[in-house]
Amino acid sequence: MTFAWLLLALPLVYGWGGGVYKQGDTCTVVPLGGGQDDGPNILSAFSQCNNGGTIVLDKYYVVNTLLVHDPLQDVKIELSGVLQYTPNIAYWSPNSLYLTYQNATTYWFLSGNNIHLYGGGTLDGNGQVWWDYPNVTSGTAGGSSTLFARPIPLTVGNASNVLIEDLTQIGSPFWNNFVYQSTNVTYRNINISTVSYSSNPTINSDGWDIYRSSYVTIEDSTVNNDDDCVSFKPNATNIVVRNMNCMASDGMSVGSLGQYANETDIVANLTVTNITLTNSQNGARIKVFGGSPDSNSTAGGGNGYVKNVTFSDFYVQHVDYPIVIDQCYATPVSCVDYPSKIAVSDIYFTNFNGMSSGAEGSMVVDLNCTSGCTDIVVSQTNLTSPYGNATYVCNNLSNSQLDFNCTTPSS
Ligand SMILES: *[C@@H]1O[C@H](CO)[C@@H](O)[C@H](O)[C@H]1NC(C)=O
Ligand SMILES: *[C@@H]1O[C@H](CO)[C@@H](O)[C@H](O)[C@H]1NC(C)=O
Ligand SMILES: *[C@@H]1O[C@H](CO)[C@@H](O)[C@H](O)[C@H]1NC(C)=O
Ligand SMILES: *[C@@H]1O[C@H](CO)[C@@H](O)[C@H](O)[C@H]1NC(C)=O
Ligand SMILES: *[C@@H]1O[C@H](CO)[C@@H](O)[C@H](O)[C@H]1NC(C)=O
Ligand SMILES: *[C@@H]1O[C@H](CO)[C@@H](O)[C@H](O)[C@H]1NC(C)=O
Ligand SMILES: *[C@@H]1O[C@H](CO)[C@@H](O)[C@H](O)[C@H]1NC(C)=O
Ligand SMILES: *[C@@H]1O[C@H](CO)[C@@H](O)[C@H](O)[C@H]1NC(C)=O
Ligand SMILES: *[C@@H]1O[C@H](CO)[C@@H](O)[C@H](O)[C@H]1NC(C)=O
Ligand SMILES: *[C@@H]1O[C@H](CO)[C@@H](O)[C@H](O)[C@H]1NC(C)=O
Ligand SMILES: *[C@@H]1O[C@H](CO)[C@@H](O)[C@H](O)[C@H]1NC(C)=O
Ligand SMILES: *[C@@H]1O[C@H](CO)[C@@H](O)[C@H](O)[C@H]1NC(C)=O
Repeated sequence: MTFAWLLLALPLVYGWGGGVYKQGDTCTVVPLGGGQDDGPNILSAFSQCNNGGTIVLDKYYVVNTLLVHDPLQDVKIELSGVLQYTPNIAYWSPNSLYLTYQNATTYWFLSGNNIHLYGGGTLDGNGQVWWDYPNVTSGTAGGSSTLFARPIPLTVGNASNVLIEDLTQIGSPFWNNFVYQSTNVTYRNINISTVSYSSNPTINSDGWDIYRSSYVTIEDSTVNNDDDCVSFKPNATNIVVRNMNCMASDGMSVGSLGQYANETDIVANLTVTNITLTNSQNGARIKVFGGSPDSNSTAGGGNGYVKNVTFSDFYVQHVDYPIVIDQCYATPVSCVDYPSKIAVSDIYFTNFNGMSSGAEGSMVVDLNCTSGCTDIVVSQTNLTSPYGNATYVCNNLSNSQLDFNCTTPSS
């Protein structure tokens, strides 16, 4: 009798069978196990513990369901376990959430107000299967096709007052984090590693992309990837990035802006400070498209500006372009004939130290303003190249203060 009762009670106590266990305002998700999809139970927990509750994800979860939920209000999410998305290309390609900008799609659209995601756990994007897919490098990025759409593991979208801290992110098929149409979002102590274990490289593995968002802070984090460490996309304003360690990345990148002729793109009030970059393509970069003869162009011709940007206290080791402004990025026409319509002004580069890779010879600074940049201030530059004295390229700078001589004006 007692034994039979125990047999019935044990599954409840230990959660065999899985489900959502609600106690007070805390919803603990117990995994189903055996590779079964925990997505519906996670969504149910978000719903049951919305408006003031806590969702506990402390085990290993398999997710094969798009995580789109009602906007959360005053919710804590403790991710101390592992949330792993399935390597199910056939499911995710048509079913991940399409976000239009650069054909991005996402596994999880975290929306709402006053959300705290924390816990020391891991978000696993299962990227390897996507990188190993035949011909993955061909075509455009993200969800350009419903047969093959590499999703973003975590998008903070249409959200406000969000704090995300103490997480590890591995294996992202596309950008690791997308901050989309949100305000007041802080990321702290995030450890990102997007590394391929086959001969196929990772692709578009940006640490963060910030789009149409303001008051975003990213701090005390590490990124090991093969694309931008942080990318400041159109209408990223009032942003602080500090105390970052970026390995094998493409650096801290503003842009690209001005890609679409019918669009206005702004990046303003950006501070990026105390950044260590190792084996990187760029240190601090601003890239904007040139102009276009075509009023419907999707390769330049957009309006806008980059203004009031400070990059300070950078430590570079083996970086191709420690400092770079490119005002003719990926532009198919001559930028002399069709100058960029993105104004670049009030840009400060302060206290840059270390050695370039030598990939660009002795050049360590490339301020290549095809249509002109104003109020560019570079100070406390202490950069060396492996090939003799460092050289500095400057083109069309006005009202600027530099602490070096421009040795190689480019045409
Ligand atoms: C990959 O590309 C090759 C050459 O274009 C083509 O023959 C092959 O069918 C493609 N494979 C897939 C799975 O798309
Ligand atoms: C999105 O995908 C479509 C279809 O492949 C492509 O034509 C378009 O250029 C892509 N857009 C971007 C911004 O990549
Ligand atoms: C920003 O969000 C945090 C929660 O992450 C909150 O504590 C803070 O008050 C918010 N700041 C403003 C100005 O609303
Ligand atoms: C700079 O960032 C590193 C982490 O990359 C951190 O250890 C150090 O304390 C930071 N320095 C300052 C002055 O905040
Ligand atoms: C701008 O042009 C692109 C490409 O033609 C189009 O997809 C987009 O909808 C247009 N946007 C606006 C606001 O007209
Ligand atoms: C950026 O903001 C400006 C000013 O509010 C607006 O006109 C423009 O449409 C926005 N661009 C994008 C890409 O959202
Ligand atoms: C420049 O941006 C910083 C934030 O990065 C802000 O505190 C400052 O007020 C801005 N300055 C101007 C002149 O807009
Ligand atoms: C930049 O900051 C200044 C000073 O706070 C503010 O006046 C301006 O509106 C901000 N620019 C944007 C695009 O948010
Ligand atoms: C731009 O696109 C619009 C709408 O698709 C079309 O009517 C117009 O003819 C196009 N203009 C050019 C110069 O291609
Ligand atoms: C500067 O930009 C022009 C295009 O406007 C390009 O042809 C040239 O190679 C660039 N030079 C450097 C050093 O980046
Ligand atoms: C410049 O950097 C070198 C090492 O790269 C260092 O020895 C030297 O002290 C630095 N100079 C200044 C003024 O910081
Ligand atoms: C490097 O610069 C120093 C000081 O300007 C100069 O004496 C020296 O000849 C230069 N070395 C080379 C290889 O250009």
